[in-house]
Amino acid sequence: MDLIKTFRLAIIPIVVLLFLIAPAPPSRSQRQKNVERQIDALIAKMTLEEKLGQLQQLDGEGNGAFRSEHLDLVRKGLLGSTLGVRGAKNTNPLQHVAMDESRLKIPVLFGFDVIHGYRTIFPIPLGEASSWDPALAEQSTSIAAREAYSTGLRWTFAPMLDIARDPRWGRITEGAGEDPFLGAAFARARVRGFQGTDYSAPNKILACAKHWVAYGAAEGGRDYNTTEMSENTLREIYFPPFKAAVDAGVGTLMSAFNDLNGVPTSANPFTLTKVLRGEWKFEGFVVSDYTSVKELINHGLAADDKDAARAALNAGVDMEMVSRTFNQQGPALLKEGQLTQAKIDEAVRRILRIKFRLGLFEHPYVDETLENSALLTAENRAAARAIADRSMVLLKNDRETLPLSKAVGSIAVIGPLADDKRAPLGWWSGDGKPPDTVTPLAGIKLKVSPATKVNYAKGCEILGDSTAGFAEAVAAARASEVAIVFVGEPAESVGEAASKSSLDLPGRQLDLVKEIQATGKPTIVVLMNGRPLTIGWVVENVPAILEAWMGGTEAGNAIADVLFGDVNPGGKLPVTWPRAVGQVPIYYNHMNTGRPPEAANRYTSKYLDVPWTPQFPFGYGLSYTQFKITNLQLSAQRIRPNGNLTVTVDVENVGKRPGDEVVQLYTRDIAASMTRPVKELKGFQRVTLRPGEKKHLQFVLTPEHLGFWNREMRFVVEPGEFKVMAGSNSEDLIETKFTVE
Ligand code: BGC
Repeated sequence: MDLIKTFRLAIIPIVVLLFLIAPAPPSRSQRQKNVERQIDALIAKMTLEEKLGQLQQLDGEGNGAFRSEHLDLVRKGLLGSTLGVRGAKNTNPLQHVAMDESRLKIPVLFGFDVIHGYRTIFPIPLGEASSWDPALAEQSTSIAAREAYSTGLRWTFAPMLDIARDPRWGRITEGAGEDPFLGAAFARARVRGFQGTDYSAPNKILACAKHWVAYGAAEGGRDYNTTEMSENTLREIYFPPFKAAVDAGVGTLMSAFNDLNGVPTSANPFTLTKVLRGEWKFEGFVVSDYTSVKELINHGLAADDKDAARAALNAGVDMEMVSRTFNQQGPALLKEGQLTQAKIDEAVRRILRIKFRLGLFEHPYVDETLENSALLTAENRAAARAIADRSMVLLKNDRETLPLSKAVGSIAVIGPLADDKRAPLGWWSGDGKPPDTVTPLAGIKLKVSPATKVNYAKGCEILGDSTAGFAEAVAAARASEVAIVFVGEPAESVGEAASKSSLDLPGRQLDLVKEIQATGKPTIVVLMNGRPLTIGWVVENVPAILEAWMGGTEAGNAIADVLFGDVNPGGKLPVTWPRAVGQVPIYYNHMNTGRPPEAANRYTSKYLDVPWTPQFPFGYGLSYTQFKITNLQLSAQRIRPNGNLTVTVDVENVGKRPGDEVVQLYTRDIAASMTRPVKELKGFQRVTLRPGEKKHLQFVLTPEHLGFWNREMRFVVEPGEFKVMAGSNSEDLIETKFTVE
């Protein structure tokens, strides 16, 4: 015993000494210099074919396997990256070919769409944004990164940062909604979650901000369609989430499919080079979207493959996804002087830089046993449930229909989504597996008392015309004290290439709701969908509506948590809900008109056949308790254009249950040299309050919040009067004013 003690005492000073004389680890800038030197050395050795090979990404077989062709390409140094190759059993062998058999031993970068979870699926991003709690997005992306990393992946094509003001566009499901401020907050959080502070760390993966840019503004909501907008709108509405991602250190961006003001975004020097590299100093690389380089021919920007490669590379795309024009046409372009060696080397450098920063050269493989312990752990499922809990939005709750008592004698669980295991996983559900999904029916059964009789009936399909199941559903409702109807969309109706001209509940689902409501039983509608829907009849007739989105693997448990009051819903809509599809695009931060809508005046800006107002405004959501927002105060009545202003406001829980409120802060520049939106979100805080509890919240407005891009395309804060508004949604606001001198 004493001997051990003596030994320990002796060893301490030795360790301390070693620590003191050991060279300090290289600083960040030293490490970066070393990386650039290593890249120089590699580039000096690379043939033109090997250089172009680094710019190529190809997709694997759908199931995670690589294609046999990849082996040969990697061996020859002609394939820089893959899309969808995953699972250590697939990635390691391909990587061994790169590291052991290729001339220069440059590792392959394995990418995949890990959008809202890898195996444990979280709510769709639009749903998660409804939490107005970016910390949750950081948590879910960090778990997704860990799961993905365990399967050999090192890169995700996320976060999707497209502002979407058009629910016809199916990809609205993938982003954070319509607002640039909320979008930027979620962008930062998701980049941090995937990448951490250092994406070479185990369990972290490289993120990709997409789709650069304005893809969400596709005309008519039709996917891949043309976009056309002023530079002001680009800079103020569509850029901010991307700027936030770049500032948060995102390693890559993806150029989009859309034509932007006549120059497709996969060949647009203004967005890809002037803004991204020139103004924002982005050091990572840009990957094209899937075949978007070759599609320049369809756009009519390029005459042929060679022209497409020339346009994309010269504009600033570094890596080509799936089409092969860079590889096939690069040598000819170089020979003809349409492309410089420097341009190619620059793209290679950017890609190698990221591979070095990822630590891929030192750690090209993944431990094959990792997957077993990393995927779908109890901890990950618990996080998915908690995040789904906080993503839900209570749209209506008359006469306190909700929450239900767990001791209810009988309950009808009705609708095509009540026991569907696929739909809650949504679009881009990674390697999520339907058998893992907890459906609402399963969640409710776990929640209610053993004595409660649960009467389940599907009623109808999500899509399709049959009403054959209605009678059984009506009987289930009649036999129960209360009926819950689960309606919405199938996973295939949202996401890519899922544009719709109608936002009504598809199939016969509305008729099903009407039948159940007609039984006279208290009826609750739970929506499980990926975009705003037009649900006027439901809003007018059904006492309680819960928006549950596509809630992921734990959707059913989370829905039951909320229906039975274990969780008090506190989410808010991150996007405006129209009454009719004809109102689209409808968004809260619009400009005013010369004739703002007035009910009594025909010659004002409105519709003859539908109110001009939304069904539910941006930021809207109820709770099982009530809140009062009062006492909006400013630190000054007048500030300088470069000054800050502190805004304070009180929020109090005046109801009977603990609950969450999201206090939202908006501003308006009343008169300026360019028209300004009627309101712009500039702050938000989600707070939890006990009954009777009051919190004093503080927000700081800086020039960044108060300025805009003027006619000379300079960002300015102009003197004049500003409104400050605070409240529980974008319409229910108290306000005050201040002046910029
Ligand atoms: C989508 C991208 C996605 C890519 C790779 C494209 O069709 O637009 O968002 O990352 O495919 O799967």
